[in-house]
Amino acid sequence: MKPEILFLKQEDVIEAGALDMAMTLEKAEQALKMWATGELDNPTKVGLHLDQHESFFISMPTYVGGEDKVAGFKWAAEARKNYGKNIPLGIDVTVLSDPDTALPFMFMEASLVTAMRTAASAALGAKYLCRKDSKKATLVGCGIVGRDAIMAVTLAVPFLEKIEIYDLNVPKAKALAEEFKDNAIPVEAVENLEESAKTSDIVITMTTAQKAFFKKEWLMPNATLVQMGPCDVEGDCIIGADQIYVDNWYQIIGSEHGSVGMLYNAGKIQKEDTTELRYVVAGMAEGRKSDDNLVTYCSLGLGAMDIIIAYQLYKNAKEKGLGTVVNLWDAPLYV
Ligand SMILES: NC(=O)c1ccc[n+]([C@@H]2O[C@H](COP(=O)([O-])OP(=O)(O)OC[C@H]3O[C@@H](n4cnc5c(N)ncnc54)[C@H](O)[C@@H]3O)[C@@H](O)[C@H]2O)c1
Repeated sequence: MKPEILFLKQEDVIEAGALDMAMTLEKAEQALKMWATGELDNPTKVGLHLDQHESFFISMPTYVGGEDKVAGFKWAAEARKNYGKNIPLGIDVTVLSDPDTALPFMFMEASLVTAMRTAASAALGAKYLCRKDSKKATLVGCGIVGRDAIMAVTLAVPFLEKIEIYDLNVPKAKALAEEFKDNAIPVEAVENLEESAKTSDIVITMTTAQKAFFKKEWLMPNATLVQMGPCDVEGDCIIGADQIYVDNWYQIIGSEHGSVGMLYNAGKIQKEDTTELRYVVAGMAEGRKSDDNLVTYCSLGLGAMDIIIAYQLYKNAKEKGLGTVVNLWDAPLYV
């Protein structure tokens, strides 16, 4: 046999529905539930950090059980030298394999899915942990994830009345607000983050900051804070919260440059202080306990979301006849 691999370039991935935020949210939520109930295996990711190249590569394997039954991994990379060269910062690809034969059957461009599912993950954190009387959100960082987060928060927290967006690059924030001028929840670019955050029920950070900049004093005492960039917020925002949630404890403490990893290495936070959001989504753990609480959620990203979404896109692509088929071999040399 000649095993077939469907190759999906970025244009195919878009055509297959990668920019469909409603689907992304549904699949991301499904991944969290399936992981909590044991139908999905999401091992801790493994990273290769090449400081001399200002780049890193992360391997994120997952097995999805349930009806679909697929194994796969995302190879997620970021290269800071890409800035200003017309190459995206994040360069990701995903491979899907048949869990019975181990044959790969899809290879796709995955950077768009990464940004979409990261935004969805942030919005799910807000959805499950925010006060139900929340009115305003401040989104910090207006890059690719920040852009998608406007879509995700609008769908996942529809009762909000306003979204304020902030970026160090003020014209970028203003241009993004203009792009979303007809959004179902009004979007406004702000120039003073502290002022905006101090009156926000929900704050979501997704910046490329290398050093923590967001301060606990900027938060309302009963706010919901979601951190998606690895080290956007100061340690107090996490250990000073009444309730702390993470996406994957063992993964997040493995990131020594990340806020939670640094707190763990300093002996300031333990597993027992935190709850993994998946259990809240599956109804197996309590979410926000009181409308008076400060609640923080930190995420470094789950391969489970990438693989479950990639499989949906594969099915869509097959149905639409998208992509290019390549063969792994004409005949295997050794059988
Ligand atoms: N948790 C996850 O699952 C996950 C997944 C993918 C990416 N990320 C992280 O999300 C972050 C954003 O990714 P992106 O692809 O949108 O990057 P991007 O380069 O497209 O955008 C980042 C934005 O952050 C802004 N910024 C940097 N420092 C800032 C500061 N101190 N205050 C306000 N704005 C600031 C930049 O001006 C830029 O507009 C990155 O740190 C990335 O590593 C997280």
